[in-house]
Amino acid sequence: MVTNNFILNLLNSYEAEVKELWEQELESITSYMRNKGYWVGINRLEGSLLYAMIRHFKPEIVMEAGSAHGYSALWQLHALRRNGFGVFYGFEIQPSIHHAREITSQFSDIATFIEGDCTPSLRCAYGMTIGKRYEDLQEHEKNTMERTLQATNGADFIFMDGYHNYEFGKWWTTRIIPYLRKGGIIACHDIPDLYASSNPMGDEYIAVREFVEANPRFKVLQCIRECGIIFLSEGF
Ligand SMILES: C[S@@+](CC[C@H](N)C(=O)[O-])C[C@H]1O[C@@H](n2cnc3c(N)ncnc32)[C@H](O)[C@@H]1O
Repeated sequence: MVTNNFILNLLNSYEAEVKELWEQELESITSYMRNKGYWVGINRLEGSLLYAMIRHFKPEIVMEAGSAHGYSALWQLHALRRNGFGVFYGFEIQPSIHHAREITSQFSDIATFIEGDCTPSLRCAYGMTIGKRYEDLQEHEKNTMERTLQATNGADFIFMDGYHNYEFGKWWTTRIIPYLRKGGIIACHDIPDLYASSNPMGDEYIAVREFVEANPRFKVLQCIRECGIIFLSEGF
């Protein structure tokens, strides 16, 4: 396991940049989104870390499963803009994706949001609540993430923040990780402790743990406790 020192140093390196970004823009947009009832799915520390990881590793292709109203996308897009290169693809099954486009409209030149089920066949619990049944999705609205990864020849940085059950975890650890480019990083939200005996967010972490145990060449960057993001890579 890579030590927390790496994360602490990284946060330290980008602290001033993040503070400026927060004060100039993100603080007000966070309040705006909260007032509108939009999903603000990550905390400031998690956003800072996603930002710092993208600034440090400088990915060309970034993808995110579960963009909701675009909050975590916004942090990642700011980092890509500051890097000066790189594009972003967000996947979301709910109509919230339209708000994600609105929230990140200043990045429309580098951000693409793709509506539908990012998995081939899972019945996403959130998706079931929007009135559009899985059975009614058209073929091009299924398996959107893997098909995009084929088109882009993989990705350098992937953030998984979809449905946190075991099946979802199994899907991405077996079907999506193979598309990671050399040195690429895959991150997952809501796993504060990979070795916990339980996780109220769901059993996705068990699938991730099984993957790591079966693939020791993948190193884990386990985050500080307040941050629920876990990073996996062969490149650390
Ligand atoms: C925890 S929220 C994401 C929060 C978001 N990243 C943020 O920063 O606010 C999970 C999202 O994943 C979406 N989702 C879950 N399963 C999905 C699937 N199979 N395909 C596409 N989106 C999915 C849900 O609709 C929901 O909006």
